[in-house]
Amino acid sequence: MTYNIGYFVGSLSSKSINRTVAKALIGLAPHNLSFKEIPIKDLPLYSPDFDEDYPAEGTALKQAIESSDGLLFIAPEYNRSIPGALKNAIDWGSRPWGTNSFARKPTGLLGASPGAIGTAVMQSNMRSVLSFLDAPQLNSPEVYLQYREEDFGPEGEILNPDTKKFLGHYMEEYTAFVERVLDASAAGHIGDAGV
Ligand SMILES: Cc1cc2nc3c(=O)[nH]c(=O)nc-3n(C[C@H](O)[C@H](O)[C@H](O)COP(=O)(O)O)c2cc1C
Repeated sequence: MTYNIGYFVGSLSSKSINRTVAKALIGLAPHNLSFKEIPIKDLPLYSPDFDEDYPAEGTALKQAIESSDGLLFIAPEYNRSIPGALKNAIDWGSRPWGTNSFARKPTGLLGASPGAIGTAVMQSNMRSVLSFLDAPQLNSPEVYLQYREEDFGPEGEILNPDTKKFLGHYMEEYTAFVERVLDASAAGHIGDAGV
């Protein structure tokens, strides 16, 4: 069984270290995962004024989320929280009210920073958001990656064997988690909280 994973890179930077990490994760993933980025950079700022006539950008984002079997977020920490561009995309996907696209989607969350805290505070904030959106989350392992230039090549090659093992383990656990959630959902054990 192949699972379609939609992934968000929570940075608009052309030199994003989180994009490099995303490439590394894709390279390490088990072969039964296929990946498609869910782009966030061209979304307008969300307003409830759009709800009555959702624009094409918002509808496309919702369709990309809904057609994914699982979601992966790879994001920086901005001012100890979620980068605005990513939060904006989440707001688009969560609305109009009653059509929350994230509900019951198995999610994984990672982040990289040059700093020692490695996006831990952003991830804590994100977990609250994903909980509210009724999106099951892989709780463990956690990836708070302190990014060191020497550990990665430009196309996501992982030059540090410990980092490679750690992220490879994450992707195995994430894949097993996606399978578990989808199995439970198919068996009717995960319901709609109606967010
Ligand atoms: C607006 C802004 C706020 C930032 N705030 C934090 C922060 O709270 N914690 C942190 O570890 N790094 C912070 N940084 C540094 C980022 O971790 C660093 O720029 C990193 O490269 C961002 O990831 P990216 O390269 O994938 O965009 C901040 C950077 C910017 C531009």
